[in-house]
Parts: sequence; C-alpha cells; structure tokens
Amino acid sequence: MENLSLDVSLSLHTTFHTGGNAKYFFSVSSVEQLKEAVLFSRAKALPFFVLGGGSNLLVSDDGFFGVVIKINIVGIEWKNVSDSSVEVLMGAGENWDYVVGLSVERALSGFENLSGIPGTVGATPVQNIGAYGSEIKDTISLVEVFDTSEMVVKTLRLQDMAFGYRDSIFKNPEGKKYIIVRVGCILQKNAKPNISYKDLTAFFAKNNIAQPSVNDVRNAVLEIRRAKLPDLNMYGTAGSFFKNPIVSGEVFETLKEKFPLIVSFDTSLGQKKISAAWILDNICGFKGYRAGNVGVYQNQSLVLVNFGEGTSREIKNLADEMKACVKKNTGIDISEEIVMLGF
Ligand code: EPU
Repeated sequence: MENLSLDVSLSLHTTFHTGGNAKYFFSVSSVEQLKEAVLFSRAKALPFFVLGGGSNLLVSDDGFFGVVIKINIVGIEWKNVSDSSVEVLMGAGENWDYVVGLSVERALSGFENLSGIPGTVGATPVQNIGAYGSEIKDTISLVEVFDTSEMVVKTLRLQDMAFGYRDSIFKNPEGKKYIIVRVGCILQKNAKPNISYKDLTAFFAKNNIAQPSVNDVRNAVLEIRRAKLPDLNMYGTAGSFFKNPIVSGEVFETLKEKFPLIVSFDTSLGQKKISAAWILDNICGFKGYRAGNVGVYQNQSLVLVNFGEGTSREIKNLADEMKACVKKNTGIDISEEIVMLGF
C-alpha cells in the first residue's frame, strides 16, 4: 500500500510539535482508502486513531502503537438551496480556514466568527468548534460518516449528533465507530453578522463601524485572535488546552462571594459557564508562566505553548499543575479540551 508509512513521527503532524512515532501511518484521500486502512488495523488487531490537522492534539512522547489514519479527503461543492441560503459540502480533509475564506469571499454568513481556527473541516463537528459567539453546530446540515461497524457511508443529520459545548456524539462511546468524511453546512446570503460577543462589539464600536459586513467580521476576528493567541508559526500550541467549566447556579454564587470579579457566561438550564482563563490568570497567576521549554501564553492563560524544545511530558506536567491549582482554590475539576493520544 503506497499510502502506508511506518514509524512516522507525530511531532510532524501536531501543532504542538511534540510526540513520538505512529507505528503505522495511512494518508487516505478517498472512502475506499479509508476502508483499507480500517481493515488493516483490524487485521493487525490494533486500534486506529483518526488525524486531521493535529491542532487540538497532544501525543505522548512514547508515540502510538497503532494505526494513525490521516484524512486527506478533499472537494468543496456549493449548492443554492433557496433565495437566501447556500449549502456547502466540504471534504473532511479540507483546511477549515481556507473554506471560511471562500465563504466570506462569496459574502455568505455563518462561518465568519470561526475565522482563523487551525485544523481541518472533519475535526470541526467533533468538538463543535466555537469562537466569538458562534459554533459550527449553528450551520451544520449534515455530516457524512464512514461507519466502521457496518463498513458503509451514512449521513447524519443535525439532531443525530448531540452537539453541546465542545461536545458531540463523535467524542462519546456511541459515536466512536464513525469517521467523518464530509461536512455540509447552510450559509446565509443576506444575514446580519453576529457581533454580540464582547470583543467584537468593542472592536466595531472602537472602529466606528455600525453595520459590519461578513468580511469586516472575519478581519476583526483575525485581528483579535492575533492579539490574544500565539502565532502557530512561532510556537507549538493547540489553542485552548482546557474547556471552560460549567457549574450550577448555587456553586457559582459561592464562588462569586469569594471571587467577586470572576467572569462567567449564562447557559441554558440556569447553569453558568465560568472562564477558566480568568481563574488561571487571576487566582493562580499562570499567565506568562514558564516551566522550562513550555509555558502558558502571555496573553491567554488557557493556552499552553511549546517554546521549541519542549516535550509532551513537560506540557502534560504543566497542565496537571494548572488543574491542581484550580481544584485547590475553587473546588472545580477543569477538563482538557484537547485530545490526548498514547498516554
Ligand atoms: N481572561 C482572563 N485572563 C486570560 C484570558 C482571559 O482573565 O488570560 C478573561 C477575560 O476577562 C475574558 C474572558 O476571560 O473576557 C474570556 O476570554 P476569551 O474571550 O479569550 O475566551 P475564553 O473563554 O478564554 C473561548 C474559547 C476559545 C475562543 C474564545 C473566543 C474555550 C475553551 N475556548 O476562550 O477557543 O477563541 O472563547 O470566543 O471555549 C480553542 O477552542 O482552542 C479556542 C481558542
């Protein structure tokens, strides 16, 4: 099989630039090749791991003794579905921000707040990517998956995928049998962009833009991200390392008494999503903290960085130290947003 390589360093396939080797590494550009890779892992009785852009992933320094399947399935189709909307169907291996750029060039609304997020299209539904007031689930019409239990392609609809905050069926046991091959989203032709997220509202007020276009929103998001998040060309990073914890109203009130300035967001069911970055910064003092070759980014304390020579072990140790501090001061267990492989 010409698309199979042996002992491939996963540090070349993760944006942290750390991690050991994958024993077997398939690069697949069609459903047929995907099927071959899955059958290969079965024949070897080894687990497989599906890789997109590696931008939300920490691989152990010992690597992964199994089959990594890198999805390179491409193709983008635009379909007019009504006077006001267009459906875009995207191969899972397409670069996410490239497609966002194309949608904005067409003045279509839906993706602009999700500008600048690294990684591939196929990864976007898995953790229901979200930023600046939008989530991918707000646009999704369908996801085509390869069902590895029946070895056929199936189409899942929005209601089948149990989307939540950084969560979906694909992260849970019942969805582990699915490998995403194509994603369909509905974009709007004449919609008013959503600039309700604090940073966006402030940006347009400051720049005196009353009615921003989708292109204005994309540019604003890219500028805000540049100011807050590390440049992937300069540092190893996977963006937010932890999720923002969601707590009951009661727990929140107790925290608020102790920490009156704590930042939170309302969610449905009366729960509160608490800013983990705020806790890590203001209570634990981790912003800009450095531990050897790794550290916490100077402008965003949810973001861990590898300054060049760091290892996954160092990143994991720092993350554990951060979790312990949050637990000790607030009683909250924060959990990883990123995926860990081989630990
Ligand atoms: N804050 C601090 N200290 C910091 C950073 C932030 O006190 O070091 C406070 C600020 O008050 C700020 C608030 O925390 O207003 C929220 O910060 P921010 O707007 O940066 O958002 P976040 O909750 O930390 C989430 C996503 C990001 C996404 C931003 C913007 C998660 C886990 N992270 O971060 O997503 O870009 O909102 O929408 O939900 C990612 O998933 O990799 C990611 C970068």
